[in-house]
Formats: sequence, C-alpha cells, structure tokens
Amino acid sequence: MPSQRDASPELQAAMDECREKVNKTLARLLPDTDLPEERIYDAMRYGTMNGGKRLRPFMVVQSAMLFGVDEMRARRAAAALELLHSYSLIHDDLPAMDNSDLRRGKPSTHKEFDEATAILAGDGLLTYAFEILTEPETHEDPRVRCELVNALAKASGPNGMVGGQMLDLIGETEEFDFGTISRMQRMKTGRLMAFACEAGAILGKASETNRKALRNYAYDLGFAFQVTDDILDVESDSDVIGKPANQDSEAGKSTFVSTLGKEQAKQRAEMIVQQANRHLRVFDKRADLLRELASYVLERRA
Ligand code: IPE
Ligand code: IPE
Ligand code: MG
Ligand code: MG
Ligand code: MG
Repeated sequence: MPSQRDASPELQAAMDECREKVNKTLARLLPDTDLPEERIYDAMRYGTMNGGKRLRPFMVVQSAMLFGVDEMRARRAAAALELLHSYSLIHDDLPAMDNSDLRRGKPSTHKEFDEATAILAGDGLLTYAFEILTEPETHEDPRVRCELVNALAKASGPNGMVGGQMLDLIGETEEFDFGTISRMQRMKTGRLMAFACEAGAILGKASETNRKALRNYAYDLGFAFQVTDDILDVESDSDVIGKPANQDSEAGKSTFVSTLGKEQAKQRAEMIVQQANRHLRVFDKRADLLRELASYVLERRA
C-alpha cells in the first residue's frame, strides 16, 4: 500500500499561497450587488467560495510561471477555470445527477438554496468563466484569449467533462469495460485538468512541444486524480472529504474500484502518475512543484 504522506512543506506552502491569492481574485470577480436578482450572485458565490482545494488554479499558475507569465493574468485564467469547475460540482450534486447534499463540508448549493437556483448558479458560473477569458485583462493579445476560450470549450463540453458526466450516469445501469471506464475518467476530470496546464502554456505563448508536454502531464494527472477520488469514496469519511462517502457504490457507478478492486485501482493510479511525470522531462527544475503535485494527488486524503 502506498504510504499516506502529506504534501512536502514547500508544496503545501505554495498551494496555500496560491489558494489565498486565487480566492481574492474570485471574491473580486463575484462582488455583492443590490440588484433584485442578487440571489443568483449569492448562489454563485456560495458554490464557489465554499472551500475547495483550488488544485486546478495551482496548476494554471505553476504552468504559467514556467513561461514568465504575469501572475495577475495567470490568476484570472485560474479563477475562470475554478468558476467552471464549481459549476460542474453544483450540477454534479443535483438530485437528478449524484443527489449529494454535502459539498466541501457544507450543504450543497441546491440544499442551501433550491434546485432551480442551483441550476441557474451553475449556468451563471459556466458562462461567466468564458466572459472572463475574453476580456483584455486576461491577455492583451486577442489570439491568446481566443485560444483559451477554444481550449476550455473543448475541455468542458461534450468531448470533455460534460461527455464524461454523461458516461458516468450511463455507467450506473450499464456495465462498462475497462477501456470505457478509463475514457470516462479522462473525460470527466482529465480534460479540465489538462486545460489547467495548457492555459499556462497558452498565456505564455509556449512552443507546441512544451504545450503538449504540459497538457499530457495534466491529462494523466487528472485521470489519476479521479481514480483516487473513487478510492476515497470507499476509504474515507464524509467529514474528511467534505462530501458523502460510499456514494459511488450506492449509486451503482462504474469506477476503477468497482471493476478492479481498491488495491489494483491504487496500483493503476500509481502507474498513471509515473506516466504523468514522464511528460515533464522537457522542463528543468522549475517544474519540480508540478512533479511533486503528482505524488500529492496519489497520496491525498481529501
Ligand atoms: C472534485 O474535485 C470532483 C472531481 C473531479 C473528483 P476536487 O477534489 O478538486 O474538489 P474541490 O474543488 O477541492 O472541492
Ligand atoms: C465528478 O465526479 C466530476 C465532475 C466532473 C464534476 P464525482 O461525482 O466523483 O465527484 P464528487 O465525488 O462528487 O466530487
Ligand atoms: Mg458525479
Ligand atoms: Mg459526485
Ligand atoms: Mg467522487
């Protein structure tokens, strides 16, 4: 069994610092209003500012740093991705999907508000994410902004997260083979994480080789991240993961754990993480925190 370690002090400090900064950017992007429709902003804030590891923003910022991208810009792209990720969680928790009442240790958005408001809050966060990417503060070059929009649309739509979520629901009633489960995990979670690192490369106008290396690293990392999420579902407690435990088996979902068993799923996750880090060979030690992040993903407890 892999040992249960926390992130190194250096990685932990870098992740903590990034989370604080990105939270500030998110708070600025989601201000209070005195509009009659304030409830939609309340729900969008609730679904976003409710904790969260901010792992994807960390990946955007770390990748952008490799190419000397201005930190404020990287943080805007990171915040846009986190808004989109928060939308995916709000909708994932809805009764029609995973029917989860707890998210990030608090009532899910549809429990705190109501289902219709949660659907609208998700829609609002999704569209707002793209609005942010199209604004000149994100990058002065319109081609860069357009590439960001294109890459995020591909990662989050039917070929990416949304398609993966569809497979996830189909997998509750159909038995998937190993290849289909792998494809589902990559689409559900791998694609958005791949965007996180690719966004840093796009902002930095990186070479195709570097862009591809980062994208492939994060795609594998996201895959392993979803496998560990499925392991935590059976291994952890709801108060540690901040969401209901044992949900996947109760819903009859197809996961690596349901197909391979816990121990083999762990071995697979380890293999995928090693594969992830091999893609980083083109980078020097400035990519060390990304390398370390791969082990953290494997050994995380929440
Ligand atoms: C949860 O993602 C959904 C999955 C893709 C497994 P995270 O574990 O990154 O959730 P937060 O953002 O930290 O709450
Ligand atoms: C959801 O996967 C991944 C998304 C694309 C939102 P899960 O359904 O396993 O995520 P959790 O466990 O609810 O966070
Ligand atoms: Mg789900
Ligand atoms: Mg879920
Ligand atoms: Mg899960």
